[in-house]
Amino acid sequence: MKFGHFDDQRREYVITNPRTPWPWINYLGNEDFFSLISNTAGGYSFYKDAKFRRITRYRYNNVPMDNGGRYFYINDNGTVWNPGWKPCKTELDKYECRHGMNYTIITGEKNGIEAETLFFVPLKTLAEVQKVKLTNKNKEAKKIKLFSFAEWCLWNAATDMENFQRNFSTGEVEIEGSALYHKTEFKERRNHYAYYSVNVPIQGYDTDRESFIGLYNEFSEPQAVTAGKPNMSVAHGWSPIASHYIEVELQPGESKEFVFVLGYVEFESRDDKWESKGVINKKPAKETIAKFDTAAKVDAAFMELRGYWDNLLDSYVLKSGEEKLDRMVNIWNQYQCMITFNFSRSASFFESGVGRGMGFRDSNQDLVGFVHQIPPRARERIIDIASTQFPDGGCYHQYQPLTKRGNNDIGGGFNDDPMWLIFGTVAYIKESGDFSILDDMVPFDNQPGTEKTLFHHLTVSFNHVIENLGPHMLPLIGRADWNDCLNLNCFSWDPNESFQTTENNSEGSKAESLMIAGLFVVCGRDYVELCRQIGNNAEADRAEKFVNDMVEAVKNHGWDGEWYLRAYDYYGKKIGSHENKEGKIFIESQGWCTMAGIGLEEGMVKKSLDSVKKYLDCEHGIVLNNPAFTEYVVEYGEISSYPAGYKENAGIFCHNNPWVIIGETVLGRGDYAWDYFRKICPSYTEEISDLHKVEPYVYAQMIAGKDAFKPGEAKNSWLTGTAAWNYYTITQFILGIKPAYSGLEVNPCIPADWKGFEVSRKFRGATYKIEVKNNGVMKGVKKLVVNGTEVAGNIIPMQPAGSVNTVEVIMG
Ligand code: BGC
Ligand code: NOJ
Repeated sequence: MKFGHFDDQRREYVITNPRTPWPWINYLGNEDFFSLISNTAGGYSFYKDAKFRRITRYRYNNVPMDNGGRYFYINDNGTVWNPGWKPCKTELDKYECRHGMNYTIITGEKNGIEAETLFFVPLKTLAEVQKVKLTNKNKEAKKIKLFSFAEWCLWNAATDMENFQRNFSTGEVEIEGSALYHKTEFKERRNHYAYYSVNVPIQGYDTDRESFIGLYNEFSEPQAVTAGKPNMSVAHGWSPIASHYIEVELQPGESKEFVFVLGYVEFESRDDKWESKGVINKKPAKETIAKFDTAAKVDAAFMELRGYWDNLLDSYVLKSGEEKLDRMVNIWNQYQCMITFNFSRSASFFESGVGRGMGFRDSNQDLVGFVHQIPPRARERIIDIASTQFPDGGCYHQYQPLTKRGNNDIGGGFNDDPMWLIFGTVAYIKESGDFSILDDMVPFDNQPGTEKTLFHHLTVSFNHVIENLGPHMLPLIGRADWNDCLNLNCFSWDPNESFQTTENNSEGSKAESLMIAGLFVVCGRDYVELCRQIGNNAEADRAEKFVNDMVEAVKNHGWDGEWYLRAYDYYGKKIGSHENKEGKIFIESQGWCTMAGIGLEEGMVKKSLDSVKKYLDCEHGIVLNNPAFTEYVVEYGEISSYPAGYKENAGIFCHNNPWVIIGETVLGRGDYAWDYFRKICPSYTEEISDLHKVEPYVYAQMIAGKDAFKPGEAKNSWLTGTAAWNYYTITQFILGIKPAYSGLEVNPCIPADWKGFEVSRKFRGATYKIEVKNNGVMKGVKKLVVNGTEVAGNIIPMQPAGSVNTVEVIMG
């Protein structure tokens, strides 16, 4: 069952039934000011950091679901409704929500009044702009009452939910004309305030929640709206809100547009904060309000945003003949990559924005799906990440975006982390050709005076693995590897402690990871190649030896006969072996060791992937492990805490399905690669949206696996490494167009019955119009013709910036 459809022309997903199986959301803003918005206008806004600068309040996991948002209420002669259906849930005559690239348009119609609401954050603007267009489709004139509503969060989203003995006394507002200001804590240490304005004179307002809604009422029955009369309340403490009241008269056929601006102001200097004693300096707010004080100005800013996205998405355009694939590659997957790049794992409808900052490993992986869009922003991110690293190559697991400091609460010691810095940096250099980043001076743990080149950071990253080898010369796992839930040194019996942060008893541990081993071989080879590129052959030779040793260690101690082992535990016992009762085979080591091609000649890669097909594959994707754990295993940690079939315990972890897909392309099995890709691809599961539950336009972290109560049900949509990994896999390994140091490498691996495809790819300023023709094979490039001239090998040599080049690729 579907709840809407794709509109590829406009790059939108159009939801036509507001009762989606879960709130289906979108993201507004893409640099500093951000909002989450659901298909019923729920959600919230924040400045840079969802924890420390929360602007509006949201209630997670509430009853009913999706509570709190920017709501417009219409009182049409006693009938009260919202354009987005919620919160009143008055049955609408028409409802439509169009989620587009960083904007959302929600339209509702009731009794001949149509309300179209456009929400977006204009480029370079610290505000969410909302344009409300009311149209009277009736034959007679109508007088209606429009109320806006936003509820302020008292800035720190965590304490806002906890510290009520203080919070209920701190709220402060100011009201001037049609602008309602939220200045809580401005008088003390904050240099920022928020505001909500509208571009017409208002006939009233409320700024105190209790006055507007009524203490025992719900969002669906605010007393000011039902009474048709605002209270002109001025909040002192309790819960400050912002609500405008506007009386609107519409002639038959007439439309009126109103522009609301929900904005944020921050002062660099305390001296500029005040206009006069106790009165905030409203100048910056007024400047932003003036930029959007007519519908025409808003429309122009909206066109600018659309143009921005046209340009971004133009960098990779696929024509495959598969509509569902094209819309993912050209629109939604790239879009999700931008969102995960911006948010890491902080704010979604599954991540509350208070717990997690930017992940060291997550952000580096997100880069590979994003770097072709705006390489300079990827560059900046790499430097930010590297600046949180420790001198021995180890890392904080996360950092806070506002301070860019490592987050001590989450700790460190995940021994895969350092490798991802090599992974991200290499992807950046191959895309941009910018080797200068390696010479940037980057501190350790943000300490001034500790600066070393970024290249040095890569070296210590590489060394961190080889300095932490276990008894089988395989990498020690530390707190965990990519799988945060394989906690081999934790031994937790206390339900009140988090597996992620509890004591890590790695002293004397023999716990080794085959996932890190495979990752090290892949990234280690990248490091070796990079060293050679910059002429540092001595370092390349040194590193290569360690990579070769790791390959041997995997072959000697990491092979179980039919597949790669997953790990050795604290005591040195095998995990992911046929000898185990549960968890006999795991996806991560099959993915990374096959990607690395370890034991390709000996048949290991093929055997491993055949075992994946046999034991891990199912109707909805590839599960993480098999058999699922049915009991808690104290020496394995969080993985065995999950019910069978969910999350890291045999869920279909969409993030790592692509590793197997890439492994399949190493073998050249394009049909298997494609089959796996399609299984978890959202546009292909749209038809089963009722089961899948979350948005059909973006990937979710997990789909319940074959051992689950409800196989096929997805959770944790949006902020997941799945986005980048699937984009990377489809574009660089299945379609096979891969940035290389000297040009664009072409090496597709597709089903034999594909006749070919076309890709327009921007790369280092030049455009390549690539046409791939296939005649019944799955892999192999027989002929490469660039601008009419045949080229040896399969690398399209770099062409001058600004040039448009035609490329013909004949497979065979
Ligand atoms: C989740 C993981 C996540 C970890 C860290 C665990 O509960 O299952 O997917 O990586 O928490 O936040
Ligand atoms: C989600 C985390 O964000 C990511 O870092 C981790 O690798 C996966 N879960 C697997 O545990």
